[in-house]
Amino acid sequence: METALTIADLKERARRRVPKMFFDYADSGAWTESTYRANEADFARIRLRQRVLVDMTDRSLASEMAGQPVAMPLALSPTGLTGMQHADGEILAAQAAEAFGVPFCLSTMSVCSIEAVAAATTKPFWFQLYVMRDRDFIERLIDRAKAAKCGALVLTLDLQILGQRHKDVRNGLSTPPKFTPKHIWQVATRPAWAFEMLGTKNRTFGNIVGHARNVGDISSLSAWTAEQFDPRLSWADVAWIKEKWGGKLILKGILDPEDARMAADTGADAIIVSNHGGRQLDGARSSISALPAIVEAVGDRIEVHMDGGVRSGQDVLKAVALGAKGVWIGRPFLYGLGAGGRAGVTRALEIIRHELDVSMALCGRRDIRTVDADIIDRAP
Ligand code: FNR
Repeated sequence: METALTIADLKERARRRVPKMFFDYADSGAWTESTYRANEADFARIRLRQRVLVDMTDRSLASEMAGQPVAMPLALSPTGLTGMQHADGEILAAQAAEAFGVPFCLSTMSVCSIEAVAAATTKPFWFQLYVMRDRDFIERLIDRAKAAKCGALVLTLDLQILGQRHKDVRNGLSTPPKFTPKHIWQVATRPAWAFEMLGTKNRTFGNIVGHARNVGDISSLSAWTAEQFDPRLSWADVAWIKEKWGGKLILKGILDPEDARMAADTGADAIIVSNHGGRQLDGARSSISALPAIVEAVGDRIEVHMDGGVRSGQDVLKAVALGAKGVWIGRPFLYGLGAGGRAGVTRALEIIRHELDVSMALCGRRDIRTVDADIIDRAP
């Protein structure tokens, strides 16, 4: 893995190792993918101020996210079907994150179940909740997350209905999924992936199959999923979930200062400025460009995090400088996972940590907690 020097290197390795339909599932955005592209492009436009002859010894990246100490202000975003990038994907990513000292957040739509991840880790991980119409199922899911001692609940707000990703439709990853000889070919040409997949029992949505009413297999699951995302989700539901959960609560998918104010009113512990990695509203602004106005609106009332388009330590530094207390990554760790399982996720984290550490120093800072907007070059 040491020869992978960038997240882009890991992406190319994942492309060669993961069957096309699942690689595309990670590497896609909604409709024209303009928001997906903007997330990365807007980071590239931000310039950092280089400083010299500042003491750069004894640097620290340690910080806190939602009250939890972190080795650097970075967490792994919840991603569905992670176990399709690599067999036991959620378990391997959680183990890599735990060893590294950053939070891992398990998606409702994960392949490995809450219990399977809990059994394979020693410290609390975080759990992401999609609110489904079946509130009994949600209550049971919250109880399972509590029983697994999850350290925070991340409630995703920006998926009341599904944005369309053309690649998924073309690849047959729709509801219901359509499996054709093309898929068999895609799997047959990725033998290492297929071999590992044969060796695991974690091959379907472990939080749902066997746990939701009438969901016992893939076809009943797809019918259930199609009708379960709740278009009526409201702020009152957020209050209900907050009460039912009772622990740390993080609200994910805020892009507008107006919504950020309402999110802060709920008394949640943090919000994540996010457009779901460009997978929902195509044409929405990038997360990094939305961040400053949201920090301005609520930064003194609630911890503000962000995700979307972070591909390097320099990007993490820019987001922290613009007011993010924590930065989350989705695809970068998925590419690492696809490229090389747990070692690949660890490599993605190492790459970002090294870039963050050196770039912070070159901006004249030694402690990530002192990084502020002063390190951004505002000159025309
Ligand atoms: C996601 N995302 C997501 N979010 C969520 O709350 N629950 C989920 O199940 C998923 N599933 C999912 C699958 C895949 C393949 C991707 C790429 C993303 C969104 C995710 O948490 C995060 O917001 C973005 O991935 C951040 O953007 P980057 O880092 O991927 O650019």
